[in-house]
Amino acid sequence: MAEQGGLIKGLEGVVAAATALCDLDGAGGRLAYRGYDIADLARQATYEEVAYLLWRGELPTRAQLDGFGAELVAARPLPDALLSAFRLLPKKADPMRALQMAAAVLGTFDPDATDNSQEANLRKALRLTSQLATAVCSHHRIRLDKEPVPPSKDLGHAANFLFMLTGERPSAVNVRAFDASLILYAEHEMNASTFTTRVIASTLSDMHSAVVGGIGAIKGPLHGGAGEAVMLTLKEIGKVENVDAFVEKAFAEKRRLMGFGHRVYRAGDPRAAILRGLAEDACRQSGQQMWFEMAVKLFERVNRAKGLIPNVDFYSAPLWYSIGIPVDLFTPVIVAGRIAGWTAHLLEQYQDNRLIRPRGQYTGPGRRQFVPLEKR
Ligand code: CMC
Repeated sequence: MAEQGGLIKGLEGVVAAATALCDLDGAGGRLAYRGYDIADLARQATYEEVAYLLWRGELPTRAQLDGFGAELVAARPLPDALLSAFRLLPKKADPMRALQMAAAVLGTFDPDATDNSQEANLRKALRLTSQLATAVCSHHRIRLDKEPVPPSKDLGHAANFLFMLTGERPSAVNVRAFDASLILYAEHEMNASTFTTRVIASTLSDMHSAVVGGIGAIKGPLHGGAGEAVMLTLKEIGKVENVDAFVEKAFAEKRRLMGFGHRVYRAGDPRAAILRGLAEDACRQSGQQMWFEMAVKLFERVNRAKGLIPNVDFYSAPLWYSIGIPVDLFTPVIVAGRIAGWTAHLLEQYQDNRLIRPRGQYTGPGRRQFVPLEKR
């Protein structure tokens, strides 16, 4: 741990909040949401069930899930003004900037915008989860000069996302893989973006403002932006036979390899292990095995030489690419997954709040005499 005179660089190992959401065992490489292993959730649950679990503490019964699902569906459409705002953006606008704008605009329309009560925040968490998914897809369609696809009233969250993206009803296999990936991104303890959202909420600012900040934090390549960077790396490599030469050159240039390494996991990221299987199936089914094979070879070479582990963003890249998600939508898709976790943390923060206000270690000059402007 990089510690100097009380300064812990990057806050490594610092415990910043109590949370009942995520049990992350970095040494053992295990992860559970509210006690449920993510492998069980990814295999057997839907994103809706996981969002309910994160917000309400328990998995829903069938009747609870039906009611909750209907509320999520009802919250899917966007205000017309947001669609108009998307049309005003440059066509080349980064989808993450568009999403940041969307979260801010949605705050201006939300009937509970500045109400920080638990009930209002539960309503906002639900609306944000549905609306941000619609926003990602609508902005994407508009930037391609296509009409947004109105959200479906009968598809589940994951299926509706893929439907709004393409206008076609997705295959059951793709829906299952995409749903599982959203679940695996839904929550991850005190990562940089979740911490950002909690810092913002700790000032008693509102949920939409916290989410705008979270979107800003997650887009960096050391965090959620790594997935897009992984796919660009695979495309740069081009074919399986080029992996060895690429790795040699990357090591010689001391290049940071995206999708590798983790602040907390030492033995391995359990999400990557599950995503690897999903990516293998999806790449095979779409006839794009080369991306999976390239990723595996890259992993083997890098892991053998440097001991670096693949993280969550490593195998989600070939998975999403093979089911037709555009590369620059990878990070917005991560937001569409992580929104459930961010908002669950915000619910916790508001319920037991204390302003988050750490200190800085001063390294500037000592006290000195002020010199008036005319004498400098
Ligand atoms: N490629 C090459 N070297 C690496 C990498 C990497 N991906 N990750 C760590 N290292 C090396 C690093 O150079 C350093 O070596 P040395 O001690 O010789 O200087 C050592 O490992 C420790 O690295 P660090 O940057 O101090 O570790 P950290 O805990 O601050 O960073 C990390 C964690 C995830 C930012 C880092 O591993 C990284 O940059 N990975 C690539 C980006 C990435 O995949 N991010 C997604 C993270 S998981 C999902 C998420 O949070 O959204």
